[in-house]
Amino acid sequence: MYRVGVIGLGSIAAMYANPQAPFPYCHVGGIRYSDQVELVAVADLSEQARERFRQTWGSAFPDSLKYYDSDQAMLAAEQLDIVAVCVRGPYHFPVTMNVIAAAGQAGGPRAIFLEKPATCSLQEMDTILAAAQAVGVPITVSYSRHWAPHVLRLQELVAEGLVGEVRQVVGYCGHAFLSFASHTTDLICQFAGYDPVAVYARGRVPEQAVPDGYEPEPALDSMIIEFPNGVIGTQIGADASFGGFYAEVLGTEGGARAGIYIPPAVWDKKGNPIDLEKLNIPENASVFKVAYDQIAQYLDGGPLPHCTNAQFAAVHEVGFAGIESVLTGQRITLPNQNRTRKIYANG
Ligand SMILES: NC(=O)c1ccc[n+]([C@@H]2O[C@H](COP(=O)([O-])OP(=O)(O)OC[C@H]3O[C@@H](n4cnc5c(N)ncnc54)[C@H](O)[C@@H]3O)[C@@H](O)[C@H]2O)c1
Repeated sequence: MYRVGVIGLGSIAAMYANPQAPFPYCHVGGIRYSDQVELVAVADLSEQARERFRQTWGSAFPDSLKYYDSDQAMLAAEQLDIVAVCVRGPYHFPVTMNVIAAAGQAGGPRAIFLEKPATCSLQEMDTILAAAQAVGVPITVSYSRHWAPHVLRLQELVAEGLVGEVRQVVGYCGHAFLSFASHTTDLICQFAGYDPVAVYARGRVPEQAVPDGYEPEPALDSMIIEFPNGVIGTQIGADASFGGFYAEVLGTEGGARAGIYIPPAVWDKKGNPIDLEKLNIPENASVFKVAYDQIAQYLDGGPLPHCTNAQFAAVHEVGFAGIESVLTGQRITLPNQNRTRKIYANG
């Protein structure tokens, strides 16, 4: 069992579900259902947050679970295999750098699971990626809806040619480019590829006071993502007929609809539905259980988990290029030239 420590005990770490949830949408719930990882330590600056966690989740974990009042205290005291960074966006950079520093020590963490949005600037992203690479630790970013079992299965089937050659991927979900819409940007890349080359976007800049050195985070109205094989990704900044957080994959032989909150659908060239019985669609599971299992399998010697290193970097590049495009009115080729723009991505 790989030892996990979680930093930040707010909504996504622990509060979006409770121990009764069958498919908990939170880190500790997914860790609890995995038989490959175990939660050994948690850290939060807030006494109130630690107490709330103890009340909700304390009895669901062994009494040996350790509580710390900061990330640094936990990292100094514990030998951890995986560290989850679940603090707000502007704190991702300093906290992740602390985890990487610990990873450079003997017995330090060997994998980092970082909540989206990865960082507030591309310069920060470049810095954490280089520092993590120097100590041989991968960073997986939690575009959590990616790991819905039926979405992963459709990804596999589409890669095997289920809809023929993919031509377009249309994703639905707007709001803030990095903090929210990035889930659907990832979903588009999940089906189109993690090698985007250019972005054109429209959006709105909120009237919002932000701390010194930051710019407000624009919201996405519409974004076109170009891929080198000619595939076009279109992200529509609104929910559609089936809600948000899903994508339609349109190919030469048919199409597919995939998203965490909707059942999968596949159709042939003429639009006739394809029987899902034949496609071995798996049972549902907590997306966090699936993600932690992938990280554990990597530590066992397996492949990199999804949404790791170059993959999350590609999604983050698209998000920043979308913002750059909104602010300049230009089509932005990747990688972004402007790497210092600092966005208050507080999701
Ligand atoms: N994957 C998803 O679907 C999803 C959903 C919601 C939030 N998120 C992301 O999760 C992250 C956290 O969001 P949230 O809504 O859970 O935040 P939150 O405000 O509910 O919780 C954050 C917690 O981190 C603690 N904290 C801050 N700095 C710390 C430090 N140095 N050491 C220890 N604890 C520290 C705070 O006290 C707070 O309790 C954000 O990046 C957000 O975008 C992801």
